[in-house]
Amino acid sequence: MLICDCCVTVSPHRQVAGLTLLAVGVYSARSATAVAGRYIEARLGKPSLVRETSRFTVAEAIKHPVKMTKRLRSKPQDALEGVVLSPSLEERVRDIAIATRNTRQNNGLYRNILMYGPPGTGKTLFAKKLAVHSGMDYAIMTGGDVAPMGRDGVTAMHKVFDWAGTSRRGLLLFVDEADAFLRKRSTEKISEDLRATLNAFLYRTGEQSSKFMLVLASNQPEQFDWAINDRIDEIVNFALPGPDERERLVRLYFDKYVLEPATGGRQRMKLAQFDYGQKCSDIAKRTEGMSGREISKLGVAWQAAAYSSEDGVLTEAMIDARVDDAFKQHLQKMDWLHGDEVTHGTTLTPHPAGATASGGKMGFNLPLSQAPEAQEVIAPVLEVKMKQEGESLSPPSNINNQSAEGKSATPAGQDCEDAAKAEAATEAKSLAKPAAPTDGKMAKEDKTGSSPPKDGTPV
Ligand SMILES: Nc1ncnc2c1ncn2[C@@H]1O[C@H](COP(=O)(O)OP(=O)(O)OP(=O)(O)O)[C@@H](O)[C@H]1O
Ligand SMILES: [Mg+2]
Repeated sequence: MLICDCCVTVSPHRQVAGLTLLAVGVYSARSATAVAGRYIEARLGKPSLVRETSRFTVAEAIKHPVKMTKRLRSKPQDALEGVVLSPSLEERVRDIAIATRNTRQNNGLYRNILMYGPPGTGKTLFAKKLAVHSGMDYAIMTGGDVAPMGRDGVTAMHKVFDWAGTSRRGLLLFVDEADAFLRKRSTEKISEDLRATLNAFLYRTGEQSSKFMLVLASNQPEQFDWAINDRIDEIVNFALPGPDERERLVRLYFDKYVLEPATGGRQRMKLAQFDYGQKCSDIAKRTEGMSGREISKLGVAWQAAAYSSEDGVLTEAMIDARVDDAFKQHLQKMDWLHGDEVTHGTTLTPHPAGATASGGKMGFNLPLSQAPEAQEVIAPVLEVKMKQEGESLSPPSNINNQSAEGKSATPAGQDCEDAAKAEAATEAKSLAKPAAPTDGKMAKEDKTGSSPPKDGTPV
């Protein structure tokens, strides 16, 4: 059959309709691709705030297939394997581990945990083991990464929680150094962007979730915003190791870094003959105040000593020399730490001697708010003025205490010039004035913060 040209000519209306349909098709295809892209990104892409995760992306699976298969086939292990804790803390965290695992299996609501304590006491170590033990995925983000994100922080934070929501195994979201961004919103020190990011975090964590569990770790939990404290269901104090725990740690790391390489298949190291058990007990006594991390580093130091020796033999004397070195360095660090505390008037970290005396139970002292610097300085001067004028200026009780000390520096009977005394007293009064609002501000901040004033504390 023959068709002439005039029969195939399409009317202009049809042409327009065809073009419109084509445009709609292209637009829909683009939107669908964008939606799919966003879905894949939320599901597979690691958010920029997450530093480390047990979840793997498709790219990683292609790059490391053996590692991925191993991870998929790995069985849940003991949550406390290789973690040395005091018996009471061990019991506590074991309960948490069991509860978390059962929560996952029963699809219940996870409880949020705060772990606090000095550096190197096993907080991160335990958090990772907890995730593996419970069969959950874990993701580690660190508080210090949030502030530099500036205005992108809010989007990045929402992305973390969107991504957490897509985990089929449940996600243990571990926020290390949490105080770096979860600090009080009332302080002027945090920027608007950080405040907005913190608000986004609070918004996403307002309800307990069956998708993710929040584990926060901090050395300075007293700096947390009060709303954060309100979201925490369980607080665990990771203390510095006591004598027994130190011995277990020394044995653990002596085994790992010395005995295993010396006796294992390839025998990469030689070890001199001596009573290893006795040596470990002896080292535990000589490492008072040291953290788990410091003791593990000691193990690495022994290994390095053997590798750097000419004959590759690790002797008792070499071990002792490393212990002495490590302990000296520990004392030096403590010296810097406490020097810093004196300069800044804060004691946010524990004193090692006090710590070990109480069996390694560590506490965190709050800033020395009861001893304002201005009052310390003026107390002796005020006393001279009071004696001179015979009138009571009724200073606060802590000034009275201070003045007792001040006597030795400025004895009451000191023969000073009258004019100089009057001048000093005037100066003292002018110094005392600004001290009052500072006190008031501190008390106000305490109310909004994590450490409400104790009953009866004069404000
Ligand atoms: N309780 C412990 N038991 C066994 N090893 C420990 C313990 N504490 C610390 N270590 C060793 O020190 C290393 C560092 O510990 P971890 O990262 O858990 O400390 P942390 O409490 O998170 O410290 P930070 O507050 O500085 O983050 C561990 O990988 C481990 O080798
Ligand atoms: Mg840590």
